[in-house]
Amino acid sequence: KPVLLADYRAPEYLIDTVNLDIALDPTKTRVVSKLSIRRNPQSKSTAKAPLRLDGELLHLESISLNGKKLRRPAYAIDDTGLTIASPPKEPFTLEVTTVVNPEKNTALQGIYLSRGVYCSQCEAQGFRRITYFLDRPDVLARYTVRLEADVATAPVLLANGNPVARATLPGRKRHYAVWHDPHPKPSYLFAIVGGDLALLDSTFTTKSGRKVDLGIYVEHGKEARAHWAMDSLKRSMRWDETRFGREYDLDVFNIVAVSDFNMGAMENKGLNIFNDRLILASAETATDTTYESIESVVAHEYFHNWTGNRITCRDWFQLCLKEGLTVYRDQEFSAESRSRTVQRITDVRQLRALQFPEDQGPLSHPVRPDTYIEINNFYTATVYEKGAEVVRMIETILGREKFRAGMDLYFERHDGQAVTIEDFVACFADVSDLDFSQFMRWYTQSGTPELVCDLTFDRRKKAAELTVHQTLKPSHGKAKKQPQFVPLAIALLGENGNEMDFTVEEGKEIRPGVLAITDRTTKFRFGNVTSRPVPSLLRNFSAPVNVTIALSDDDLAFTMHHDSDLFNRWQASNKYAARSILTLLDAKRPKPLVASKAAKFAAALEHALRNPDLDDAYKAELLKLPSVADVSREKSVRVDHAAIFEAHRAFSGAVAEKLADTLDDVYARTSNGRKFSPDAKSAGRRALRNAALSLMTMRGMDEDYTRLETHYRKSSNMTDAAHALVLIAGVDAPARESVIQHFFERWKDDHLVIDTWFSAQAQSPRAETLDDVKALCTHPLFKITTPNKVRALIGAFAMGNPLQFNRADGAGYDFLAEKVLAIDALNPQVASRMLGAFRSYRSLEPKRKNRAKAALKRVADATHLSRDCREIVSRMLED
Ligand code: ARG
Ligand code: ZN
Repeated sequence: KPVLLADYRAPEYLIDTVNLDIALDPTKTRVVSKLSIRRNPQSKSTAKAPLRLDGELLHLESISLNGKKLRRPAYAIDDTGLTIASPPKEPFTLEVTTVVNPEKNTALQGIYLSRGVYCSQCEAQGFRRITYFLDRPDVLARYTVRLEADVATAPVLLANGNPVARATLPGRKRHYAVWHDPHPKPSYLFAIVGGDLALLDSTFTTKSGRKVDLGIYVEHGKEARAHWAMDSLKRSMRWDETRFGREYDLDVFNIVAVSDFNMGAMENKGLNIFNDRLILASAETATDTTYESIESVVAHEYFHNWTGNRITCRDWFQLCLKEGLTVYRDQEFSAESRSRTVQRITDVRQLRALQFPEDQGPLSHPVRPDTYIEINNFYTATVYEKGAEVVRMIETILGREKFRAGMDLYFERHDGQAVTIEDFVACFADVSDLDFSQFMRWYTQSGTPELVCDLTFDRRKKAAELTVHQTLKPSHGKAKKQPQFVPLAIALLGENGNEMDFTVEEGKEIRPGVLAITDRTTKFRFGNVTSRPVPSLLRNFSAPVNVTIALSDDDLAFTMHHDSDLFNRWQASNKYAARSILTLLDAKRPKPLVASKAAKFAAALEHALRNPDLDDAYKAELLKLPSVADVSREKSVRVDHAAIFEAHRAFSGAVAEKLADTLDDVYARTSNGRKFSPDAKSAGRRALRNAALSLMTMRGMDEDYTRLETHYRKSSNMTDAAHALVLIAGVDAPARESVIQHFFERWKDDHLVIDTWFSAQAQSPRAETLDDVKALCTHPLFKITTPNKVRALIGAFAMGNPLQFNRADGAGYDFLAEKVLAIDALNPQVASRMLGAFRSYRSLEPKRKNRAKAALKRVADATHLSRDCREIVSRMLED
């Protein structure tokens, strides 16, 4: 049943051209497919091979080969495909007619209807739900598509490539459009859209002078909310030209926003399809975070045109070839569009919050997995975010220029091909003459390496020694792991806080300030160390690892003041706070400790907040103390969320008390008089103000709740309104009910904004939350078939509410298990994602662990379970 990387074989047949004629209809969409097929000259076997085409949930109407109707037993069909036992040796044409039902398609793979709009999702294996095909990424074909639909319900007809023709049919009820994509592509990049949509259009001229028509299609009346996405698209197109020399290659580039979508967005050639949440924005309806996400996802999907589409994956095990690389590219784009340091902090927060727990639990897998049961389960933080970190390490090792040379070589050498990670890495080896064989372990070994470091100082010899012990925990099926090659960026801070100008006398430096960690134990000797150094390790998070080193609270405060690497200043602050909370948790008598711990930390934080050289967005990051989830991860064993929540609240409240005057100042200084602008500086000001508000609220005094209500009532944009809503929904403030009600009345007709309303209530740490969530599941605006709704309510509860999801009585787990089963019957992909909320259950304290396990067992015992959920739940339960 599992698919193995080791079993990869080149396809026996190739498909050169695909002609599709798709007649859209809500329940009977007819697809006529004409394929020109030939034997793969590279195929090793000489015997005549059967032709096996993938196909699922298709109704076959007819099939003919070279114009002659085929009859059984010349072909056979089963649940997963169609076989022609002895096809001709010479190239031939196969014509297949299938019928599918978009209206009944709740899995949202293949062709489906979203609020009356026909759309498609083919990655990874949705094309086989449209027609019989060699549905694998190493079969590249040229597509021509004729799309036909009712004029009234689908005036807009879109497909990949360039438009060729369109006309109305006799009777004027139906019409069609023909699209041709000149670039050979795998089937997962195929897309069509048909619907009644509004258009925001514009143009872009590429650096060589090609004029491209840009279109963003949205629900009628929402055109004005697409401007930010359009602006982001143009900036992405320019950026890819200047930073990577990549130009766009068709006459048109279209984006369509739909309301029902399993993931964020999809990079179909020339026709990106988006979850509307990641396209639509206005000051009144979208938060700054949404603006940022739109910018980065529009960029991400656009960048796929080269990293993914022009050069694609040989097989699905190579998913990180396109995803890790494209995430790296969109992170770089965001870094250059905003603040590089804040972007880095955001990206590392995300990696630690999503990828580290994945890698430390039962779902751990390498960046390039070597086995899967359902590929849709591998669109993970490990493949995407850790995959991006691996690419970034290549840049760190080579330096910006050599890295670019390697990328140039990759584009030149592999354009038009379906390739592997080995092909990608070879390009960097070739431009640098470095040996990447040890580095390849980043792709093949799972787990987060731990670097346990020790630094000793010899004042007499003016020398220091750094010892780095590397461990990589065993994971399922892999007991022994080899040491990774880790680029460890480092500085030594001297008494005055400046970086010392030390020399490396023993151990290897990759580049100045970047050490090569190569073994289980790697030793370094530094000379010219003139005073006791405070180490600044893993600067800018130079590798996806955990580092531990003995540092005192004073050392951390010192780093917070002086480190020239602003990322590490934030890191020190974060570590300091998390550690303080953990100390309170373990203390026998925490009360007296709280005040002293908080006072010391608050003093260090205050110093940074008053520093005029630091910008608002950065200060906001400092003010966001580690969350309950962050501290739970830090704790990592016998996690009791209730205890952590209490310690967290006590510490944060005490810090807020100590900083009261400073926070008041910050809140007043950043007050919002100006007109809304989504730019980074304005967003930074709002982020700082809201972070101050959050911290002040931790004191829980009447005046804090009054301020909170005023913040909500006076807000003039969604960033402030949503922030206040989430805070107020989380406490027993007198205005709680009325604010929640007010928000609902104001936004009940906006399906995107109302998701925020669901989430705010689902994330509340109040004891009533689970009951509220259960009640909201029957709310008229909640729809279990719409993934955004499921994520906003059930997802926000299970993944965004550590305290209430992890209730000691296990009711949170039971609720999720029950919902997963209900969703699984409709949409396995979404259900299987929700199951991910259990990924860290093994690190829970025994009572909670057993209750979580019992809930998982109930899922496993269900009679009907999708392959998606089956794979996840069995990995969770195996030892
Ligand atoms: N390739 C898309 C992106 O990262 C993700 C779509 C994956 N969809 C899926 N159903 N597995 O941009
Ligand atoms: Zn992607």
